[in-house]
Amino acid sequence: MQIFREKDYDAMSRRAAQVIAAEVVHNPACVLGLATGSTPVGTYKYLVDWYKAGMLSFKGIRSVNLDEYKGLTPDHDQSYRYFMQSNLFDHVDIVPENTRVPDGLAADPARECAEYDAYIRSLGYADLQLLGIGRNGHIGFNEPGDHFVQETHVVDLAESTIEANSRFFATRDDVPKQAFSMGIGAIMGAKRVLLVASGEDKADAVYNTVCGPIGPQCPGSILRLHPNVVLVADEAAFSRLTAAGVNP
Ligand code: GLP
Repeated sequence: MQIFREKDYDAMSRRAAQVIAAEVVHNPACVLGLATGSTPVGTYKYLVDWYKAGMLSFKGIRSVNLDEYKGLTPDHDQSYRYFMQSNLFDHVDIVPENTRVPDGLAADPARECAEYDAYIRSLGYADLQLLGIGRNGHIGFNEPGDHFVQETHVVDLAESTIEANSRFFATRDDVPKQAFSMGIGAIMGAKRVLLVASGEDKADAVYNTVCGPIGPQCPGSILRLHPNVVLVADEAAFSRLTAAGVNP
């Protein structure tokens, strides 16, 4: 695992954007696995700035997103499709048809999951998969449990995730209770993984990912079995590792 410990959120965002930009420049037809949540917002801002400055093009890029709330329309301001449009896609030259987010309204969820996996396979998996991490160690919406789920699936969100994500909704009751999530198989199938984390409330998840037992109780920990992972975290997210003497 290659580790970057950055001073603060902005430095973390810039470093993560550099890793993505390097991939896009190196391979202008690459497949990007993309993530939502508050953590990558700054990363996407840098990418949009660099696109506007003429330093990057997304014209040949195809993207697959990690997850989507079940039941939200694409134009709902808390849907992950909406997030991707407003934070990245609407501001760069990516071809709309080349972006894919699970369809939160799919009439046949099992079919949507199977088709999503088939699409990822047809692309040859992501060249670079961006990941945030939940406070409980979830990646995508792969929640802690007693086993890993390989395929794209419908998840019952953990109470702690509903609580954490309620900050984005008017009330806690408005938070969807289920989501579509890429499984561990597609995440681990990516050629390279970029994990980003910021803030004190991620310190336990980052510690457990890097140092804890590898297992489904902390889904992020499986990344230690991936041969090419880059972790970019700010000092606050790194604090438990620093206290444990891990000094990259
Ligand atoms: C959300 C998303 C994840 C994200 C995580 C952390 O529920 N499904 O993809 O990485 O939780 O979000 P945030 O970056 O807002 O802390």
